[in-house]
Amino acid sequence: MEPKSSRCGGAGIRLRLLVVLHLLLLVPSSAMAFNYADALAKSIIFFEGQRSGKLPPGNRMPWRADSGLTDGAQYNVDLVGGYYDAGDNVKFGLPMAFSTTMLAWSVLDFGKFMGAELPNARAAVRWGADYLLKAHTAADELDSLASSVCPFYCSYSGYHDELLWGASWLHRASRNASFMSYVEANGMQLGAGDDDYSFSWDDKRVGTKVLLAKGFLRNRLQGLELYKAHSDSYICSLVPGTASFQSRYTPGGLLYREGSSNMQYVTTATFLMLAYAKYLRSSGATASCGDGGGGARGEVSAAELVAVAKRQVDYILGKNPAGMSYMVGFGARYPRHRRVGAVVGGPDSRDAFADDRGNFAQSEPATYINAPLVGALAYFAGTTK
Ligand SMILES: *[C@@H]1O[C@H](CO)[C@@H](O)[C@H](O)[C@H]1NC(C)=O
Repeated sequence: MEPKSSRCGGAGIRLRLLVVLHLLLLVPSSAMAFNYADALAKSIIFFEGQRSGKLPPGNRMPWRADSGLTDGAQYNVDLVGGYYDAGDNVKFGLPMAFSTTMLAWSVLDFGKFMGAELPNARAAVRWGADYLLKAHTAADELDSLASSVCPFYCSYSGYHDELLWGASWLHRASRNASFMSYVEANGMQLGAGDDDYSFSWDDKRVGTKVLLAKGFLRNRLQGLELYKAHSDSYICSLVPGTASFQSRYTPGGLLYREGSSNMQYVTTATFLMLAYAKYLRSSGATASCGDGGGGARGEVSAAELVAVAKRQVDYILGKNPAGMSYMVGFGARYPRHRRVGAVVGGPDSRDAFADDRGNFAQSEPATYINAPLVGALAYFAGTTK
């Protein structure tokens, strides 16, 4: 058979070539390509800079030395180790447990995309987990934790969400059915039925729902179907154009919530969108966003979630109106800081960023901002060519 191009003649070929060349020239400006692998490596090295305790021989942060070597000694317990929470030199158990869990979730779901960074990510999980095991010295640990970290970190959501979160993880880790029975018997009292739209070290309800929805989507645990519905309503709240959309974005496209450190909500939401996209794909499902009346979209696919998540990651790395990266040490312009890989609180609702140390909400990094981003960056490092 005659090849099609020769039928079009020389002029046709030249025209097509021109179109292709034109498209090629357009690509670099419209689709800024980031080095996600580099950002991933930096997001993990940040945790090495936050280490407390006796640093191991392989320490990659020359400006860091051993610290906090007598922590716990006045109470005759060994509480050496763990992570400093943020820009200050304090170890807070509740956020640290959250950050460690999100690092672990990053490795579990996206570790296969981490390449050479996988051992570093695992070491970051271990550094937090080793400390948390030591710190677990009392049976009523949750209550004592809560009272000791407040007023710095007060769990406004109470501890019910932590109980459900804990039981869900114990089930995932042990496959012991008694934890699933606990979830099924107590889920509603522990907040499973609430629709809430943030995920943070304090409020773990949405993260728990997505984790449990996986049990339905992937492992066909019928008792968990309601968590798919609640996860859908959260996920749809993030996607513009759906019936249940109710998030706010800055004019430049960053997810925005009132309150301190907006970026913590950006990285947790981004992580959950990617994890949920993965679970949806595993069962060929979509997120149901309501009846789709009035031109609103009724369903959101895994691919769309990935696209929304990518816009958030790209915004953080530099595709934003301020033209700067919010990860220290990444790209040409970034906040003034010495902690390489640290992601700061980020810009205000108008995409403006005051690079001012005194502005904690915008300038302070924290382990719980970085931890979910580790998984998101791994996903894009492994899937973007
Ligand atoms: C499952 O967990 C429960 C509660 O911690 C425990 O009592 C039980 O021994 C566990 N079962 C197995 C098979 O490990």
